[in-house]
Amino acid sequence: MLVPDLPLRTERLDLRLFTADDFAALHGYQSRADVTRYLYFAPNDEAASREALVRKCARVALRAEGDVLNLALVLRETGAVIGDVLLIWTSVAHRQGEIGYVLHPDHAGHGYATEAAREMLRLGFDELGLHRIVGRLDARNTASARVLERLGMRREAHLRENELVKGEWTDEAVYALLAREWRAGRR
Ligand SMILES: CC(C)(COP(=O)(O)OP(=O)(O)OC[C@H]1O[C@@H](n2cnc3c(N)ncnc32)[C@H](O)[C@@H]1OP(=O)(O)O)[C@@H](O)C(=O)NCCC(=O)NCCS
Repeated sequence: MLVPDLPLRTERLDLRLFTADDFAALHGYQSRADVTRYLYFAPNDEAASREALVRKCARVALRAEGDVLNLALVLRETGAVIGDVLLIWTSVAHRQGEIGYVLHPDHAGHGYATEAAREMLRLGFDELGLHRIVGRLDARNTASARVLERLGMRREAHLRENELVKGEWTDEAVYALLAREWRAGRR
């Protein structure tokens, strides 16, 4: 079980729970076609972003299999919410997890997604005791693949047309990292 002590502080970011006040920031990036291009949903209208915010506000801890911890990325320098990051407890028996991240494009290219995702790996491995954490992505999502590679994750699979996303058969890539590899990478 993991109920994190928040906010988490990384070099440039504070990672905190979402609140009802984050609607404008969340809608600001979830409504953009360039952000949702390789995600499961189309650009959000306001109602969809409100529903998404309700879901995000409830993702506060990892208590059972399937739970999601979803944190807002706050740029400490300005206080702005620039994206979000998540950790999913996908299997208790097998000690498996999954990470995910989204950034507002205005804040791309500075390493913020990598910085936040690295903190989620730390939580998953060091605090929750996971054995393996994966990142799954549309195989065309090269920016996301670079994040996972910067984190030291290994490309383990390329699945051909295994998902029907927004009416299109898509390939999925799977990256993974083991706890011992994470620890070795930090030494
Ligand atoms: C995937 C996504 C988060 C990647 O964003 P990003 O800005 O490229 O990733 P980072 O924040 O880690 O920044 C890394 C980039 O900043 C550069 N950078 C600058 N300063 C840096 C620093 N201090 N540390 C690391 N990278 C830095 C890196 O060189 C890299 O650029 P490159 O990929 O062109 O080499 C972003 O494209 C996005 O939100 N996409 C839409 C949602 C999405 O697809 N999410 C993933 C679903 S699987």
